[in-house]
This record gives sequence, C-alpha cells and structure tokens, in this order.
Amino acid sequence: MIKQGTIEKIMTTAKVEEVVEDFVNLKRRGVNMIGNCPFHDEKTPSFTVSPAKNIYKCFGCGKAGDPVRFMMEHEAMNYPEALRYLAGKYNIEIEETENTAEEKAYKELTASYFIINEFAQKYFEENLFRTDEGKSVGLGYFKERGYNEQIIRKFQLGYTTRDRDDLTKRALQKRFNPEFLKKLGLTSKSNYDFFRSRVMFTIHNLSGKVIAFAGRTLSKDKKTPKYINSPETDIYNKRKVLYGMYFAKQAIRKLDECIMVEGYTDVITLHQYGIENVVASSGTSLTVEQIGLVRRYTPNIKIIYDGDTAGVKAALRGLDLVLEQDMNVRLVLLPEGEDPDSYLKKVGIEAFRAYLKDHEEDFLFFKTNLLLKEAGDDPIRKSQVLKDIVRSIAKIPDMIKKSLYLKKCSDIMDISEEILVAETNKAIKADLKQKRNQYQRNNPDVNEDRFISAPKKQQGEKVKNLKQVVTGDDYQEKDLLRVLISMGNQKLKADSDITVAGFLISNIEDELDSIDNPLFKRLFGECIQQYKDVGRINIEAFTSSDDETTRNLVIDLLSSPYIYAGWEEKGLQLQTQKDPENNQEMDSLNSLRRFLYRKYDKKVKLIETKIIELSGQAGEEENLLLYMKAHKKALEFRSDLANQLGSVFLR
Ligand code: CTP
Ligand code: MN
Repeated sequence: MIKQGTIEKIMTTAKVEEVVEDFVNLKRRGVNMIGNCPFHDEKTPSFTVSPAKNIYKCFGCGKAGDPVRFMMEHEAMNYPEALRYLAGKYNIEIEETENTAEEKAYKELTASYFIINEFAQKYFEENLFRTDEGKSVGLGYFKERGYNEQIIRKFQLGYTTRDRDDLTKRALQKRFNPEFLKKLGLTSKSNYDFFRSRVMFTIHNLSGKVIAFAGRTLSKDKKTPKYINSPETDIYNKRKVLYGMYFAKQAIRKLDECIMVEGYTDVITLHQYGIENVVASSGTSLTVEQIGLVRRYTPNIKIIYDGDTAGVKAALRGLDLVLEQDMNVRLVLLPEGEDPDSYLKKVGIEAFRAYLKDHEEDFLFFKTNLLLKEAGDDPIRKSQVLKDIVRSIAKIPDMIKKSLYLKKCSDIMDISEEILVAETNKAIKADLKQKRNQYQRNNPDVNEDRFISAPKKQQGEKVKNLKQVVTGDDYQEKDLLRVLISMGNQKLKADSDITVAGFLISNIEDELDSIDNPLFKRLFGECIQQYKDVGRINIEAFTSSDDETTRNLVIDLLSSPYIYAGWEEKGLQLQTQKDPENNQEMDSLNSLRRFLYRKYDKKVKLIETKIIELSGQAGEEENLLLYMKAHKKALEFRSDLANQLGSVFLR
C-alpha cells in the first residue's frame, strides 16, 4: 500500500491545471481556467479549473473533483493507479507501507505469475506470426474471420502449435518454477503443454496485465471442447473478470454505457468496427462482482443476447441483482441464430447500430412481456408474474424510477396502478424486514435507527438536481453550509482569533437535529466533527472523497462563493458588500441569521399548534404554561433575527 505521507505529498504537489492540461485545452478566464469538458460533448466550454482551490468542475455535466479524481475519471484508473501516475508526473518517490512476510510472499508469487503469463502470451503471439503452422492455420483463421493485424495485436491473440511440450520446455529453460506453470494451467500434470492446436485469447486485468488465457479449438470434432480456459489462480478469479474491460473502460466511461456480450469474438469484432464500450461475460451468467465492476464506470448496461429465449430466460433471473444496484439495464435480442460478431459482419456497422437502437428494450418491460406471454390466460400463472415483477420493482432504490416502472408495468399487465403499488410496498416491507433481521443477527448490539438513514446516493445524479429533490429549509441550510465550507478556516474578522467555522459551529451545534436535508445534515455533522478533532475544516477530505454526492456538493459549494442560493431568485438582493472575499463576518452572520430565522419560525409554529391542542384540556395547565413561556422566547428570538436581517428580508 502507498504510504499516507506519499499520498499527501502527491495531493499537495499535483496542480490541477497541469494535470488537466495534459488532456484538455485550457484558457485563462479571470482566476480560473476554462475549456471544453472532456466528459461530455459540448461546443461552448463549461469545464472550469480553479488553480487556487485545486479542483475542476464542469457546469454542464456536473463532473467535479481534484487532480486524482480527474485521472480516475478521465483515464478510467483506480485510486492507486491515479496516485502512481501523478507520482510519476511529479517525480515523487512512492513509499509503500511495510508488508508482513505473508504479504511479501504473496506479492512475489503474483509477480511471478504475471511474468510467466507475459512470457506465455509472447510465446503464443510469436507462434501466430512467426511459425509456419501459426501463419497458415492460426493467422489464416483470424483473417478469415475478418480480423486485421492491428486488432490481433491489440487483443494479443495468439496460437499454439500441435507440439506436445514446446512451451513447457522453453519455460523451464528460463528457469520458471514448474509448480507455477502447473498452477497457471500452462503445463498439464503430466508435463505437457495444456493448450495445444488452438488459437489463443489473452485475458487481462484492469491494468492490462495478463491473468489468464482461453484457447479455441479449430477442430470440427464435436468431442473436442470448443474453448478451454486457464484455471482460477491468485491472479484470476472468473467471477470478478469481464473479458475486454481493460480495452473498454475508457469508452464505457465516456459513452456512459457498457455493452455486454457473451463471447470473446463478439468483443473483438465490435472493437474492430469501432464499438469499444463492450465486454464479455464469457458465457456464464453475470455475477455481483462483475456488475460491481461495470458500476465503477457507468450505471447503464446494454446486454445483447442472441435470439434463443431459453438462454435469455436464464439470464433474466440474475438481473434483479442489477436493479438492486440501481443500474439501468436494456436488452437487445438479435435475430435467431446470430451473435453480435456474426450479425455485425452480416449487416455492417450502420445497420448494426440502427438495429441496437431500434430493438433495445428496458429489461423489466422485456421481462414483464416475456413472462406474460408465457402465462397466457392462466390466472394463477398471471398472478405469479405479478409477484415476480413486483419483486423486481421493489428492488429499485430510486423513487422516481420506481414510480415510472409501476405506471408502465400497470399498463403492460393491465392491472390498476394502486394494486401494483400496494403489492410493491408489501414486497419492500418484506425485503426490509429480511434485511433488518439479517442485520440484527449480525449486529445484535446496534439499535434499529440505522435503518432510517439518508437516501442512497444515486450514481450519475447531478448536483444541480439536488435542488429539486430537497424541501424545507434547503436554501438556508445550503447557504450556511456554503459559508462554512468555503470560508470556514478564515478568520471571522481580521483582528479576531476565532474562525468562521468556530463562530458558526458554536451557534448551530444545537440545531443540527433540525436540519431538514439529510445530505446537508450529514455534511454539517462531519464539519463539526472535523472542527472538534483538528480545529479546522478539512476541505480536501471532501473534495477527494470517494462519495460522489459529497464530493460534488462540496465542490459546488466551493465554486459558487458569491451566489446566495435561492435568495436572488426570490428577488431578495443582498444589500451588502462590494468585495465578498473579505466579508466573512457579514456573510457568516447573515447566513446564520437566515438559517436560524427559519428554524425559529418553525419552532414558533410548532409551539402554537401544541398550545392550541392543549388549551382547554383538563390537567394540562402546567404544560400549557411551559409552552407559552417557550413561545414567548422563540417569538422574541425570531423577531430579533428579523430585525437584524432588516426589512428586505421580511418583505
Ligand atoms: N465458452 C466457454 N467454453 C465453451 C464454450 C463457450 O468458455 N466450451 C464461452 C466463451 O467465453 C465464448 C462464449 O462462451 O466466447 C460464447 O460461446 P460461443 O457463442 O459458443 O462462442 P463464440 O465466442 O461465439 O465463438 P465463435 O464465434 O468462434 O463460435
Ligand atoms: Mn460467435
């Protein structure tokens, strides 16, 4: 693991404008720099880089982050990869934490595996291009399938001759450990080559290292297995691998869609025709791990099946899993007997793209239609379909999406929406109960409040949508959060010891519970915690957070320092400052007052309903008196705040 010190060094050294400029043309615009967003198509630049804050933000698509995040997003790297890249760029030496003996041994083992696999890959490639048999049989086969040399080289395709142990002998000459050769499945138990007389497909991990092979026979003999594969090893876990992901990840991110096919050859053919956002499940049904892998790059999956329904039905069973992860799944059924590779070659790229477009169907609607058709008029089977579909819908975390599905499925099934909603609620409750039981079994000491938590974050949800989904005192809360985040570490006044954060936090700590927006509440809570721990707000912890919602929100707050969210829209101009950068005190005070005004306004109203409820009730006189006192206090405070805020506010 990379040491924390090194990470910090990278974070403080990497300049966002320098990192971004390697990929995007930037022009200076005031204190910021601006360019065409690399994450979405645009004609007028809205991609903004702030050297002072060391962050970027696109006002078009909402993508935002720090230099590390940029590399992760733009180059589809994972976190350590991005760190290593930046360390390389800035000549920072990477210090790694000391490994235990066990970890060291493991690292050495996997390093050897990679070296041997790379050797084998080169060997297969040499065989394809240099040996007579390779050239005539292997290369002949690939050429016949229409692959050009470039794509063959890119995917590191290869060939093994019929020789019994050529690879094994050469590997032993290089003093590779014979046990390792067997573990990797290159050498058989009886010391022969495992792959013989086959064309070879190389399987890579996410950083392009060779983790396994698949060999396809060219024999027509039905008894010979069509493909044979490397066994699972410490570097190859089938459940976690999608063939082609290394070559597809950038395109997937850029196009915000992952196309899923079944076979190796499908992936390669689509690539050659310019469709690069494609991976293969390699003939097995999808696993949670594979979906998680796709989820890192996009929430949108398009699965292309060949047109036999038996296979499709089997695959559908696994797909609820995908819904649960809040992915959007579309299906395309190819004509009977075709796979993507054969169909694309048959009709050409234009027609292929058009076909995908015309025939893509939402997975859930597809499933509904298919099951309904099968159920026919049988009422019992129809009600089973209903249960099945409802169970799927219940898994969708997104409320809006869920209600859209309910509407459409009620149409398709010809069942009233009310019934569908009621059934779905039942299913959700059952799900929740099951989860709760499971959780309590695993964590007997924790109480249930955990389940009433903030809404799950939505991948791809833009910060600008936040406004629409929140209610209550959102504007005031957000504005206060903006002040806290964007100037929290500055002094309240030039000559004072107290920072803006110190001032605000001492005033709002007691109000934390009354914050409406769960996301803001969480962030306030985290700020307060940070302030208590280290005496300041650690902005970098937010801007480089793994949680996209937090990251985007904080960057949004940082990059709109002079916009008083909502107040201008309401015609409430601020009466203050020419130079807002230096108006921390005024800013903090006003923001705080508006926030507190809302909270006290609510308190007043709440107490009033309570008073009405209690008045005239026998035995409640004492309580009533307490409430009236509280009411007076709250009223006073509210009117103080109103006075301080001035008449503009009260209009
Ligand atoms: N597969 C496998 N073992 C087999 C058959 C299939 O691992 N015995 C996997 C492979 O990943 C293969 C995928 O299932 O790519 C799809 O199988 P299939 O459609 O039979 O093969 P294609 O990839 O289409 O190969 P080709 O076009 O050469 O027939
Ligand atoms: Mn095929």
